[in-house]
Amino acid sequence: MDDIGRYIEENRAHWDELAEHHPDTDSYDVEAFLEGDSTLRDLEVEELDASGERMLHLQCHFGLDTLSWVRDHDVAHATGVDFSPTAIDTARELRDQVGLSESEVRFLESDIYELDARLGEPFDIVFTSYGTIYWLPDLTEWARQIDAHLVPGGTFYMADGHPMVGVFHHESTADDLRVTYPYFNTEPITVDQDGSYAGWDFGLEHTRSHGFAHPIGEIITAIVDVGLELVFLHEHPWSFFQQFDAMERDENDRWYLPGLTHDLPFTFSMMARKPA
Ligand SMILES: C[S@@+](CC[C@H](N)C(=O)[O-])C[C@H]1O[C@@H](n2cnc3c(N)ncnc32)[C@H](O)[C@@H]1O
Repeated sequence: MDDIGRYIEENRAHWDELAEHHPDTDSYDVEAFLEGDSTLRDLEVEELDASGERMLHLQCHFGLDTLSWVRDHDVAHATGVDFSPTAIDTARELRDQVGLSESEVRFLESDIYELDARLGEPFDIVFTSYGTIYWLPDLTEWARQIDAHLVPGGTFYMADGHPMVGVFHHESTADDLRVTYPYFNTEPITVDQDGSYAGWDFGLEHTRSHGFAHPIGEIITAIVDVGLELVFLHEHPWSFFQQFDAMERDENDRWYLPGLTHDLPFTFSMMARKPA
């Protein structure tokens, strides 16, 4: 197995264990979802009109957003893909619990780099959000998979953490922003930790994971190089999670770093279209 294969296998083992624990965390709040709350943020709902469309959701984790698109936002069909078998099992159980059918929502266990062999028909929309491309070593192949699964005229949409603020240590404050991680994609960022953004001390066996820094230029270039046309790139002054210990959350679940003299781009959203 080459290095990339090893990184993906270690990440899969790590994520598969996280998928066992995440449904029990406050951060995911499965109970509120089962009671009818959509897990999508205002940002993607306002920027992406997905009503009546067929959607492919990449790196869907255990399916809350995939199910929310169909149950709460009129998406006609969604296929959620993730390489964690535990995440996919839980996603299917939740689909049954909320009473959606397999023709409305399908979940597929697959490495996104192996999707070609797994999915036939193209989609109106390819969607991915919040904590996805950091786990991918190769954005050229990622973009090729997106293009391959879109119908002509179809839409790609993503929202995620802005790579610019990904360089700072989580103990950074407005007065002390500590550059700790690379901005440019050089070596994988290997971390050994028993937890995630959603909680700590799960008792994980597979604590090691590998992330990959992707500068904003690399992300856009990967998308336009496969022939998709950029519709917008928006940058937002809030984070979707508590990226720094000093952050404070507002009533819309957006996290801000208090005391900054000027805003920083914590999140970006991007839309691109496949030519008709
Ligand atoms: C942060 S989570 C997804 C974020 C999602 N917005 C959520 O919070 O539910 C990242 C997901 O990417 C998946 N993943 C990582 N690398 C992958 C790959 N190569 N192929 C498919 N899924 C992958 C993990 O299993 C995990 O479920």
